[in-house]
Amino acid sequence: MLWLLLLQVLASCLWLGHSEVVMPFASCPQFFYGGTPPNNVLEPKKPAWICQRYRNSYHFATLYDRDGRIPVYSAYIYQPGSGIGPESVWFVEPQLISKNNLNEMERESVLIDEHKFTLDQIKDSQAVREDYDKMTGLSRGHLSPCGHLYSKESKMATFTLTNIVPQDTSLNNGQWNIYELKTMHEKSKGCTTTYVITGAVPGNTYVVEGRVNRPSHIWSAACCLVGTQPKKAWGAIAGNDQNKVENLSLGELEDRLRGLYGGRTVTLFNNACPRQ
Ligand SMILES: *[C@@H]1O[C@H](CO)[C@@H](O)[C@H](O)[C@H]1NC(C)=O
Repeated sequence: MLWLLLLQVLASCLWLGHSEVVMPFASCPQFFYGGTPPNNVLEPKKPAWICQRYRNSYHFATLYDRDGRIPVYSAYIYQPGSGIGPESVWFVEPQLISKNNLNEMERESVLIDEHKFTLDQIKDSQAVREDYDKMTGLSRGHLSPCGHLYSKESKMATFTLTNIVPQDTSLNNGQWNIYELKTMHEKSKGCTTTYVITGAVPGNTYVVEGRVNRPSHIWSAACCLVGTQPKKAWGAIAGNDQNKVENLSLGELEDRLRGLYGGRTVTLFNNACPRQ
């Protein structure tokens, strides 16, 4: 009997250990409707699943492309709150460097001064501040924007470079900003909970001497729950070279993404939100 019990305990520990490694976003399913991330069509060759952790809690989730050094998408719950973001504080992600015990985003200077990483080690699989300083016509585009999260810590956490893509400056300051502020505000009226996934489609060109991919498109999708029921959904997409955003239904957006991802069907929100 004792043997059996021990075996059972051992088995369940192994299973837990196993699922921690294999299950994407095991520590932060709460940012996805039904706890289910988009299907694997969006996955890059060298993915990293990041539960964005800052000051001991999780604020959103990001699928990161270690080759292109840009996020594929960030997923979060829309809880707009005013208040200001940090002033020129940017974080990078220790989990992308090597095996280490650091489980939170951190400033480059802290990783270098206190944890003895080199800048080259950090730069190996992620973009750093100097990459964005070297770009022209492109600015730091948040996927999960500061203004869509409520607490001071959550807002701070959006300033990790793993949540940032090189975004056409006129789009970032223009129509995309209007979509984030005005369109999201209007469309989410009456929603109890709004799940959002905002992504970047990898492009064919790179900036900063081939270090950082320049996305061809920026897109966003939202699923609105009234009570606990998904009641409506919507999407938007923009070419990353012009100041123009298109409003789409969720179905139209998923179809556009299918076209941009080689004809494989993309499913956001566990196929449970209205596509019309
Ligand atoms: C998208 O829809 C919103 C709200 O329905 C509207 O205010 C906005 O002007 C539309 N944007 C575009 C680019 O058509």
